[in-house]
Amino acid sequence: MIDNQQQTIKEWFDYTYLTRGEMYLRPKNAYYIFAELLQIKPNAKLLDVACGLGRMLEIGLDYKAQCSGVDISSVAVETAKLKLPEANIVEANAEELPFKDNTFDFVTCLGSLERMIDKEKVLQDIKRVTTSDSRICFMVRNSNSWRWLITKKLFLTVNKKGHQDAKNYQQWKALFEKENFEIVSCIPDQWPIMRILQILTFGTFKGYKNKQNSFTPLQYANEFIFILKKN
Ligand SMILES: C[S@@+](CC[C@H](N)C(=O)[O-])C[C@H]1O[C@@H](n2cnc3c(N)ncnc32)[C@H](O)[C@@H]1O
Repeated sequence: MIDNQQQTIKEWFDYTYLTRGEMYLRPKNAYYIFAELLQIKPNAKLLDVACGLGRMLEIGLDYKAQCSGVDISSVAVETAKLKLPEANIVEANAEELPFKDNTFDFVTCLGSLERMIDKEKVLQDIKRVTTSDSRICFMVRNSNSWRWLITKKLFLTVNKKGHQDAKNYQQWKALFEKENFEIVSCIPDQWPIMRILQILTFGTFKGYKNKQNSFTPLQYANEFIFILKKN
């Protein structure tokens, strides 16, 4: 069942992918860090929740994982399926994942959980479809970042149709722990600064792949990268 608010979110993403396509997302090389943090192994089963155009699934395939993805946008799913026929990509709401219990070794959900209406339900369903020793990676927006504060307070430009939202570190931590996930690690997303360094060095700077290169203090991170396991 898809209600009005969910339909608005879906339509906003369909329109965004139709009009902006690949330009809407970070480039592929910004996604390797998630595979490195998770230590994805060949043949492991990876699910990317809210997979968009399949950027993370491309990385999963590079790591020789068996890749599945879901997204609510039919435009995203059709595009990703054409691009990545080796992956199993389906149109679905993350609140009701169309997979059996205990299926996946790794789950990623990048820049998307804050967009979802019933986050508890999403977390419960991710828990259901993952194995007991699985690792789960969420990249989620920080409400204490300068970028979010400027966007929200100064320019009042938070995107309601795309359900843009954010929480601070304590709030994300409380949500994950309430749903019985243990936090293995949390680092600041470094893409904004890495992008500047890449531009300044004409693409020769490759530091982003190295998770030790942390320039931003966690509390001011634009987004948090959480690695979780099930309790
Ligand atoms: C900012 S994009 C990120 C896409 C992708 N994770 C990436 O990093 O390339 C957010 C994605 O969340 C998807 N989305 C939003 N709500 C969803 C839901 N309830 N179930 C599944 N996908 C959802 C959107 O369609 C969109 O593709």
